[in-house]
Amino acid sequence: MALNLLRNYSTKIRIDHLRMTIIGAPGSGKGTQSEKLKRDYNLPIISTGQILREVSEQNTKSGIEIKSKLAAGELISDAIMSDIVTEHLTKTGNSWLLDGYPRNTEQAKGLDKYLNVKMALNVVLHLDVPEKVLAERVQDRWVHPGSGRVYNSVFSPPKVKGIDDVTGEPLVRRSDDKDEEVFRNRIQTFKNNTLPLLKYYEDRGVLYTIDSPNSDEGYVKIKQILDSILTK
Ligand code: AP5
Ligand code: MG
Repeated sequence: MALNLLRNYSTKIRIDHLRMTIIGAPGSGKGTQSEKLKRDYNLPIISTGQILREVSEQNTKSGIEIKSKLAAGELISDAIMSDIVTEHLTKTGNSWLLDGYPRNTEQAKGLDKYLNVKMALNVVLHLDVPEKVLAERVQDRWVHPGSGRVYNSVFSPPKVKGIDDVTGEPLVRRSDDKDEEVFRNRIQTFKNNTLPLLKYYEDRGVLYTIDSPNSDEGYVKIKQILDSILTK
């Protein structure tokens, strides 16, 4: 077990004060693990990728701009992201889960300032997955656009091929998953901008790194960590 896990096991967090983010490369399983956490801990999820995909469907100036950035695998500006996240946080209580935010040091500092010391992030999960596995997962990913529900044609297929289990609507591939160059750009963006955040949160003693192979093992580890640090 990594040393940082052992060190942090002594910190207790009230379940209704859990403020958590998931950091991980494209395809590492942020959305997949978020859904399980929502189910088991009743946590509201703020997924910046899903929010942006919804905005990108609007035929407005910002919708069109965001759509082209998403398709190219580029980050949306910090100012827009800060507005989106703070708007959602004001509607959420003291406990929540961020999927995909912050993604760079500027966003992390802005979030700290907004949350203030009393409400600071207290758990940062880092999903560590080898690059080769990421590419395979994303090639096999199918999503339900309306809800963001994620499937994998190999590991977690829908009951009927190409159809969402819940609504019966068609599944699609994401525009940023189809092109190998765009995927490489997303990986590089993650390395350049987001990986430095690990040190930022490790220094604060809130970072938990989880190996997340192609199985349920990653979620078992996440649950072990949370069940050790959470109190009623
Ligand atoms: P976002 O939607 O967050 O994309 P991403 O970071 O590239 O991550 P993904 O959603 O691709 O992967 P994931 O980690 O959620 O994996 P998943 O669970 O689906 O962001 C999209 C874009 O929005 C960004 O590129 C950027 O342009 C913009 N954006 C977002 N946030 C921003 C911000 N803060 N600032 C600026 N711009 C921002 O799993 C992947 C596949 O693997 C699925 O098929 C799944 O079924 C499968 N899988 C998952 N776990 C396992 C497992 N354990 N075993 C087997 N298969 C698994
Ligand atoms: Mg996702």
